[in-house]
Amino acid sequence: MNDTVLVTGGAGYIGSHTTLALLEANYDVVVLDNLSNSSAESLRRVAQICGRKPEFVQGDIRDTTLLNDLFSRRTFTAVLHFAGLKAVGESVRKPMDYYDNNVVGSMCLCQAMARAEVFWLAFSSSATVYGEPTRMPICEDYPTNMPTNPYGRSKLMVERMLSDLCASDARWSIALLRYFNPIGAHSSGMIGEDPNGIPNNLLPYISQVAIGKIEQLPVYGGDYPTIDGTGVRDYIHVQDLADGHLKALHGIRSRSGVHIWNLGTGIGYSVLQMIHAFEQASGRPVPYQLVPRRAGDIAECWADPGKAARELGWQARRGLQEMMQDTWRWQSANPQGYAH
Ligand code: NAD
Ligand code: UD1
Repeated sequence: MNDTVLVTGGAGYIGSHTTLALLEANYDVVVLDNLSNSSAESLRRVAQICGRKPEFVQGDIRDTTLLNDLFSRRTFTAVLHFAGLKAVGESVRKPMDYYDNNVVGSMCLCQAMARAEVFWLAFSSSATVYGEPTRMPICEDYPTNMPTNPYGRSKLMVERMLSDLCASDARWSIALLRYFNPIGAHSSGMIGEDPNGIPNNLLPYISQVAIGKIEQLPVYGGDYPTIDGTGVRDYIHVQDLADGHLKALHGIRSRSGVHIWNLGTGIGYSVLQMIHAFEQASGRPVPYQLVPRRAGDIAECWADPGKAARELGWQARRGLQEMMQDTWRWQSANPQGYAH
């Protein structure tokens, strides 16, 4: 019998790619998602790509009755926990929504797991927990006391809650996966990132400019102390990230306690480098305008991914051109995302 994994937030951007990778690796998958920021169409596409379907449960991780029913109906080996809200600006305007969804939601999930005696969990954390780092690259032991916004603080609170949980009971084994900047799409072009409204993040913005939906890209700040004055980030292909989750699943089976792994490439690219790489991959111009810095942004940020390489045998394999080509394949084949 295959192992069954519960994927919360599995209809979303990273969750759908990871669901696909799990199905391809012969896991059975149950997706729990309230579709607040996604469409069930992503899971239909996953099934088309791999010929296997996850079970889909539409519901909320804060719904204790639903969780109890689900855990008593199915036997899970582990939980991959992607569900949550992720828009930084919105988190400043609606902090309680973020603490409720991200912190309370994670707490409800862990309580239901404990009742069902499921103790293996991987949590989607973020490089945002490092706040404003002053030295690069960033290792996992870099201090995490100063995220700059409620979204980041909600992620850090969950990290701390999960660490306390592991310290209280040795049956738990939990991976805190700190993603750097996930971009790209599955190589089929059938699943990808489908943001609501005007995108917040760089790559979805660039691709909507390239497709003609938005006139030009605002480049936030040309006066950072970086290679060309624009912000530098560690962009990682979403399929590499999905593979990282499979490795982390193996990793937590053989360890107890809490384990932190950075999931990044170790390479930083500037905004201007990203624009040029995208223009090359798409053959489309990306008009842009330098504008003042965005509040809360940092100059640069890239990972030391060595710990995940040593302990999990994982490293990102896909380069910048592949990330751009795959983003463009998804965007040009699905100009309206999943809504058509
Ligand atoms: P996403 O919004 O595409 O996916 C999150 C999914 O969770 C969505 O399908 C949404 O409908 C669902 N969801 C939200 N609240 C829920 C709830 N209370 N109950 C059930 N389902 C709920 O986002 P993503 O980019 O795939 O991110 C996945 C996770 O990774 C998030 O926790 C995010 O904070 C984290 N993360 C993302 C990035 C990034 O750049 N995309 C970077 C670092 C960390
Ligand atoms: C943002 C979030 C961070 C989150 C991460 C991944 C903020 C302040 N931080 O980080 O918490 O973990 O996304 O989801 O929002 N840029 C432009 N023009 C744009 C958009 C972005 O120039 O229209 C620049 C930014 O200034 C930055 C780079 O592109 O230098 C990447 O931006 P973005 O994709 O938003 O990611 P982060 O800022 O790293």
